[in-house]
Amino acid sequence: MANDLLEIKNLRLSFFVPSGEVKAINNVSVSLKRGDVLGLVGESGSGKSVLSHAVMGFVSPPGKILGGSIDFNGLRINEMTEKEKRIIRGTEISMIFQDPMTSLNPVYPIGTQICEVLMLKNKMNRKTAWYKAEQLIKSVGIIDPQRRLTQYPHEFSGGMRQRIMIAIALACEPRLVIADEPTTALDVTTQAQILELMLEMKEKKGMAIIITTHNLGIVANMCDRIAVMYGGTIVEYGTVMDIFYESRHEYTKGLINSIPKLTAKKEEKLVPIEGTPLNMLVPPLGCPFAPRCKLCMAICLKKRPPYTQIASVHYSACWLNQKEEFERDAINV
Ligand SMILES: Nc1ncnc2c1ncn2[C@@H]1O[C@H](COP(=O)(O)OP(=O)(O)O)[C@@H](O)[C@H]1O
Ligand code: SF4
Ligand SMILES: [Mg+2]
Repeated sequence: MANDLLEIKNLRLSFFVPSGEVKAINNVSVSLKRGDVLGLVGESGSGKSVLSHAVMGFVSPPGKILGGSIDFNGLRINEMTEKEKRIIRGTEISMIFQDPMTSLNPVYPIGTQICEVLMLKNKMNRKTAWYKAEQLIKSVGIIDPQRRLTQYPHEFSGGMRQRIMIAIALACEPRLVIADEPTTALDVTTQAQILELMLEMKEKKGMAIIITTHNLGIVANMCDRIAVMYGGTIVEYGTVMDIFYESRHEYTKGLINSIPKLTAKKEEKLVPIEGTPLNMLVPPLGCPFAPRCKLCMAICLKKRPPYTQIASVHYSACWLNQKEEFERDAINV
């Protein structure tokens, strides 16, 4: 839609490895408006990171975009040159990576690293940049910013480094922040503080956020919309209420059932989803979840389920939503 900040349309992205073509993203469409928070959920290997990286314009061999488009604020990211992409990274779109140690340079004080971003992207002089850096790390909850800016990454705890990464990601007030499992390595309290900070930036600056996480609790608290990914596709999309309470996809139901309930008695076990994750080298012809789905029908093996609109923003790609189409040849397998 014209007023969307980000619109991904029919995206297809594969990795060409010696053993064949890994279809990592298979016809994904999703959009975001200013201030939207989208949660990407799904088990490992479902394509969340590849999709997030593609939005940043990071697609390198053996990866290749085979079709579709990524439009950000009127710019077609998948047709931009490396130089053009570098200009929008950090200023328009920022990414918070999972491991802050790999993104911070160990040999420079963190103040120098933040200032470099500000000087390069916002064309600030060193003095203004240093002042702004102080404000920034203060805003992510770091006490004594003047002294802290002169310290090196190893002098900070994991949680503090993650805060610094967030400060750098937010330095240029981007329109979109992509957070790929930003809190996995952190303790619960720090996780909560960091997510709170990100939401504050959304409220204050109208920043949009795409967050990838295994933690469905985080998704429930933060997101306006959830995209459930399986086998390189979005199998279900909707609001938090749609996904948690009105799910219409067998994979989503399994995912929701696998989280411990607050009310669960101690002896109640998690319900894991049986079967092995999909081999993307040989994706099934029909529904990607078919090999693990207890309700799999003949049609599920033959034909990909189309999206069915369940409610205003709730979509699900499961044949069970299209009863009249398969009733003729429905046989349980
Ligand atoms: N550089 C790469 N080369 C080959 N295959 C890759 C590469 N990066 C990712 N993939 C494949 O793409 C699929 C999606 O991966 P990814 O997006 O990292 O999953 P997730 O983030 O959901 O755990 C996986 O099957 C993975 O093996
Ligand atoms: S389309 Fe078929 S295999 Fe896929 S989730 Fe629905 S019932 Fe299961
Ligand atoms: Mg990932």
